[in-house]
Amino acid sequence: MSKFVVEKKRSHYCGVLTKKEEGKKVILMGWVDVRRDHGGLIFVDLRDRTGLIQVVFDPAVLKEQFEPAKAIRSEFVLAVEGKVRRRPKGMENKKLETGEVEVLVGEYEVLNRSPTPPFEISRESDASEDLRLKYRFLDLRRPDMQKILQLRHHAAQSARDFLSTNGFIEVETPVLTRSTPEGARDYLVPSRVQPGRFFALPQSPQLFKQLLMVAGFDRYFQIVKCFRDEDLRADRQPEFTQIDIEASFVSRDDVLEFTEGLIAYIWKEVLGVKIKTPFERLTYTEAMDRYGSDKPDRRIPWELFEASAVFKNSPFKVFSGAVAEGKVIKVLKFGSVETFARRDFDQLEEEAKRLGAKGLGWAKITKEGWPHHLSADDKSASQTGQVVGWQSNIAKNFSEEERAHLTKSLKLKEGDGLLFVADRWQDACNFLGTLRVQLAKKLKIGISDKPDVLWVVDFPLLDWSKEESRFVSMHHPFTAPHAEDLSLIDSDPGKIRSFGYDAVMNGYEIGGGSIRIHDRALQTKIFELLSISSEDAQKRFGFLLSALEYGAPPHGGIALGLDRLVMLLTNTSSIRDVVAFPKTASCSCLMTEAPAAVDPAQLKELKISIPS
Ligand code: AMO
Repeated sequence: MSKFVVEKKRSHYCGVLTKKEEGKKVILMGWVDVRRDHGGLIFVDLRDRTGLIQVVFDPAVLKEQFEPAKAIRSEFVLAVEGKVRRRPKGMENKKLETGEVEVLVGEYEVLNRSPTPPFEISRESDASEDLRLKYRFLDLRRPDMQKILQLRHHAAQSARDFLSTNGFIEVETPVLTRSTPEGARDYLVPSRVQPGRFFALPQSPQLFKQLLMVAGFDRYFQIVKCFRDEDLRADRQPEFTQIDIEASFVSRDDVLEFTEGLIAYIWKEVLGVKIKTPFERLTYTEAMDRYGSDKPDRRIPWELFEASAVFKNSPFKVFSGAVAEGKVIKVLKFGSVETFARRDFDQLEEEAKRLGAKGLGWAKITKEGWPHHLSADDKSASQTGQVVGWQSNIAKNFSEEERAHLTKSLKLKEGDGLLFVADRWQDACNFLGTLRVQLAKKLKIGISDKPDVLWVVDFPLLDWSKEESRFVSMHHPFTAPHAEDLSLIDSDPGKIRSFGYDAVMNGYEIGGGSIRIHDRALQTKIFELLSISSEDAQKRFGFLLSALEYGAPPHGGIALGLDRLVMLLTNTSSIRDVVAFPKTASCSCLMTEAPAAVDPAQLKELKISIPS
């Protein structure tokens, strides 16, 4: 066993040494970042989780220990004992926290060796992500990844601090449980003891936290892994972490207020950045109408407009016909379109069709390139500056008044672009909302470090599922409806608003929650609306229904996505970069090679057979 590890012990981390420690004897342990031979001396940058320090091997000091030091290579693990000294004048490294000093090694030990790693740890890596994930233990050694995971710890710790200080207690809930209704596919775990029966991994601790309220815990939280078998995206992992919260005797405003406090506290603690509270609130309808999304990124300055009234009686039958059918004409106005060519608009149209739109109208407001469809009058008018020019695939079908109306109401000017969609309100908003974000990315609009955070409230309680021909819950079936909308339950249930809310930051849904139903009769009614039969409800959620009969207090809560918070705190665009051991887009772990085949004996024990 190493004398350094057992007896001498580390005195300092590498990255903390400054001129304050000048003259001190220190013992450091870490990895060799780079090694340089220079003027008969060996210089090593020694790295640990705090940073780098230059250590110097001098033959005059080390005598016969110097020769073996020549074999030291990158990623060897070293222990060194030596004296901190100022670097010679002009040799300081301003880029390093420790750059004014170095350690003159008096004694050292190679604690372990390493072959040349598959990618460089010390520099920005251009290795493929697959290679990085296969050797994740090396990838995580990189300073960037060290910083992210340390920050993640800080964020989780701040959440614990804030919640504990505010009277919330952390309670663990089961991982082997039954299916919860969060809307994704479950991960199932077969029971060996009861063959043919399965546990489900929780999509969230939703039902347990409600039961904890019935049990009288009053304020609960848990930083907890959740599991959802769904298609992965840049901000989705099959297992992810929630800061899960529930409280009794609270109104929606109470939940929003303590959640704002929590988010502001995390930002202040971790980044020293002040987030203004209370957050602005948008209703779901407003968010969709103006931004085409229920998680709007308002750093992008463009909004959607409704132009149904303009085209109600239009000679352009595609639009007037759509309005007659109860559809809407939505328009996205965006800027910086000068460099846009027809090809770019064609690409946007293809994208819209891929999203499910039947077509996409577009227009570019310009002074040049007068297209053939403009009349001579238009041209002369434009020269006097009264009418702006349109390059467009559809504007030739609009009447002059319609163009003038749009010009005035949308305050059109040269350089503006317009996209038009005629469809059902929800679809039209969704299509343009998606294109809005894609366009902003392409034109590099809306990049700002300042977090934009808001609440989206008053979601519809129900969403009509075309595939299942039934209503499904927009949040989950335990979300309370607005009491004043209950009269719509039989006549127009799609219009009932819920007490669900989402927290949104920079276009990410960072959290979602609701005030819950605590009344057994109302819960039964909602199950009926969702076409969940009473037998089915009893079978799946009988324990909750029973609990609601035994004095359930009014309660509500929220869950924040910790991974997404860390993405935002670190300005990272891939969730895989904030998770220590993530899954790839095809849901595998390249390091452990999970999921993997299992021993036939294990399957036999579980009474599972896999058809070949
Ligand atoms: P919801 O399903 O909205 O609510 O989830 C809460 C938050 O968890 C994060 N999140 C994810 N993060 C990464 N990968 C995923 N696959 C993923 N899925 C969700 C999001 C989301 O806002 N039980 C309710 C909460 C409640 O009602 O209190 C729930 O789970 O940031």
